[in-house]
Amino acid sequence: MNEFQGKRIVLGVTGGVAAYKAAELVRLLVKAGAEVDVVLTAAGAQFVGAATFQALTGRRVWQALWDERMDNGMAHIDLTRGAAALLVAPATADFLAKLSHGFADDLLSTLCLARDCPLLVAPAMNRQMWENPATRRNVAQLGADGVRVLGPAHGEQACGEVGDGRMLEAAELLDDLYASLQAKTLSGKRVLLTAGPTFEALDPVRGLTNSSSGKMGFSLARACVEVGAEVTLIAGPVALATPRGVRRVDVQSALQMRDAVMRTVSGQDVFVGVAAVADYRPRQVAADKVKKGTASLVLELDANPDILAEVAALPDAPFCVGFAAESRDLAMYAEGKRVAKKLGLVVGNLVQDGLGGDTNAVTLFDAAGAHVLPPADKVEVARGIVAHIVALMEKSHGQA
Ligand code: CTP
Repeated sequence: MNEFQGKRIVLGVTGGVAAYKAAELVRLLVKAGAEVDVVLTAAGAQFVGAATFQALTGRRVWQALWDERMDNGMAHIDLTRGAAALLVAPATADFLAKLSHGFADDLLSTLCLARDCPLLVAPAMNRQMWENPATRRNVAQLGADGVRVLGPAHGEQACGEVGDGRMLEAAELLDDLYASLQAKTLSGKRVLLTAGPTFEALDPVRGLTNSSSGKMGFSLARACVEVGAEVTLIAGPVALATPRGVRRVDVQSALQMRDAVMRTVSGQDVFVGVAAVADYRPRQVAADKVKKGTASLVLELDANPDILAEVAALPDAPFCVGFAAESRDLAMYAEGKRVAKKLGLVVGNLVQDGLGGDTNAVTLFDAAGAHVLPPADKVEVARGIVAHIVALMEKSHGQA
């Protein structure tokens, strides 16, 4: 994904052992299309050398306030002009203290003060330094000054202790940086989603399920967080990490999924049913493991409730979005489901184009007709779907 294409990021690296993660972050940023200018403090250079960053960015690293490359001697001002963001990762306790007081005694601190773009910091320090009242004060002050603080995470530290203060991983920083650059089109809105398959038990070890990976639903949850929504994700059994900032509720069966949705739905602005909910469940769930022995076995199944249809029929229903995975006649079936379930939008795809994989090709069906999204990575497709939901909600709001 070229999500940073055409963007220049200034990355400040201060003197902490987490500086090694900054090298990986640079690699990911460059891979995502960004131009990266690395500004290394004297202490930062003790941990990772300028040559590493230079090789990864293909650009000279900035270290001195009086760098000859800027004709006007204004590196401290010019470097952030036109940059999409200035991210300091790792940001040590000492650097946060300097920043919160507005010190400007080297290139990076001066750039932070004279910046012309959003400033983000990723703290990295020993847990006692993080918990120290001085650091707490400085971080609170930075937040109040409009600086975005990313992390830190909880976990094992270089000093051997366990606690808060670890710098976020490079991939997490990349995601947070991307999110921080997005317009908050769903700010103040609450989104509820279902994702993954359901598992309908037959006995203590067996059940009926399907091959839904949950990736599309999880990508949608992430895309909603990126644009500022408060997101709850009701997930069937999947092996996926929870997107950052998402409240996740794990369930197994369709009935459990329905209960979890109904407990949460009040006050939600949007409901997206992405889950591949089993249409039927075994009538009997055997208390003990069923033994083989008979030549054939007949299963009796009962229909499961249609969660999406139930939500859409609520008196104060949120804006409802459904998915239609079909093997043929996509437009006819998807449009049929949209009308039958009274949905604002149906996302249709041909199963051969998407189920289980990392990419998807979808068509959006709404009251105005069909809109084809270009085939892409599921995260990219999710962002396209969210943009469409926002546009539809704005339109209906304008008409109200
Ligand atoms: N859905 C739901 N609860 C169910 C079944 C489906 O919430 N019990 C939701 C899915 O999350 C999806 C949409 O409804 O958004 C799918 O519609 P549906 O007509 O049920 O699809 P299929 O189950 O695939 O239907 P069919 O087998 O008839 O094609």
